[in-house]
Amino acid sequence: MEYTTLGSTGMEVSRLCLGCMSFGSGSDWMLDSEEGAEIIERAIDLGINFFDTANAYSNGESEEILGDTLAGYDRDEQVVATKVRFDPGTDHPNAAGLSRKTIEQELDNSLERLGMDTVDLYQIHRWDEKTPIEQTIRALDDAVRRGKIRYLGASSMWAHQFADALHTADNLNAEQFQTMQNHYNVVYREEEREMNPLCRNEGVGLIPWGPLAQGYLARPHEELFETTRGDPDQKHNPNPEYRRAGGTEINERVAELADEKGLTMAQISIAWLLHKDIVDAPIIGTTSIEHLEAAVEAVDVTLTSSEIDYLEEPYEPVPVFGH
Ligand SMILES: NC(=O)c1ccc[n+]([C@@H]2O[C@H](COP(=O)([O-])OP(=O)(O)OC[C@H]3O[C@@H](n4cnc5c(N)ncnc54)[C@H](OP(=O)(O)O)[C@@H]3O)[C@@H](O)[C@H]2O)c1
Repeated sequence: MEYTTLGSTGMEVSRLCLGCMSFGSGSDWMLDSEEGAEIIERAIDLGINFFDTANAYSNGESEEILGDTLAGYDRDEQVVATKVRFDPGTDHPNAAGLSRKTIEQELDNSLERLGMDTVDLYQIHRWDEKTPIEQTIRALDDAVRRGKIRYLGASSMWAHQFADALHTADNLNAEQFQTMQNHYNVVYREEEREMNPLCRNEGVGLIPWGPLAQGYLARPHEELFETTRGDPDQKHNPNPEYRRAGGTEINERVAELADEKGLTMAQISIAWLLHKDIVDAPIIGTTSIEHLEAAVEAVDVTLTSSEIDYLEEPYEPVPVFGH
């Protein structure tokens, strides 16, 4: 495994982050605690030290599975990220959002489920139109001062909103956002217009979600619906937008290059992201040890600039989605 510095934090993380959205009981394709623990343990064996979850994933079950598994390891060695913004299933008016009340309650709930006193990276899962960003930043900054959070991050929003958050934190002399968890992969590159350059200028680390376009980039496009997760009746089925514009041709070129190089499509797609110097660590979601091991091998894959150009060439703008 290779390690990199996460944004401007000075904290070292593995080049792959293990996404924990697949652990819990929110959908048929998710893994229970025992199966989830096996993936987390194998990830640690393979050198992964960076884990991403959220209060809303399976109503907090994902945090519990991650916390229970990591309890068997030295906490100092692991970098744990979670998020706040969406309703974690408690179904009361202040369960969601980014108000001081929600942040303080939900942070405590997350720490309890994780079985930890401090979370390494606490991310705002989306923008909250109802709460002034000043209030959100003051609440987050207070939690950092209280030792409950080490670093702050944000996820999928418009670049102008994130610029507002960065600027406001500066003005308040408050803890700054260090990471952006955005939707970015070889068939969805809208983030290259505004968000990625903003993050580069501000020294913010990129930890993209959906690096395999939620499975679309892991197999030929015509086979996607054959998987449980790709089934259109499933809650998290990949968005049809991936098939728009150049998306089908890119999928075919990923398959062609994988064949030529004796690799899997997932490995080519992950390697493409790892070749973007703005990207610190893609967040991989998997329910299979074999896929996890293959993803880790992608860290050593080299793509030439002409191979990268070949993959990128069919791309055409698509409507922004995933916010
Ligand atoms: N911030 C946000 O709004 C947001 C949104 C979505 C996700 N996330 C985070 O990002 C993580 C990843 O998201 P994701 O699961 O949607 O994205 P993903 O990694 O792009 O896609 C996961 C899909 O790819 C397949 N896959 C993974 N590795 C593979 C491999 N080596 N070979 C073949 N297939 C492979 C998985 O199937 P198998 O299970 O069969 O391996 C699964 O169907 C989540 O766990 C979560 O932590 C964040």
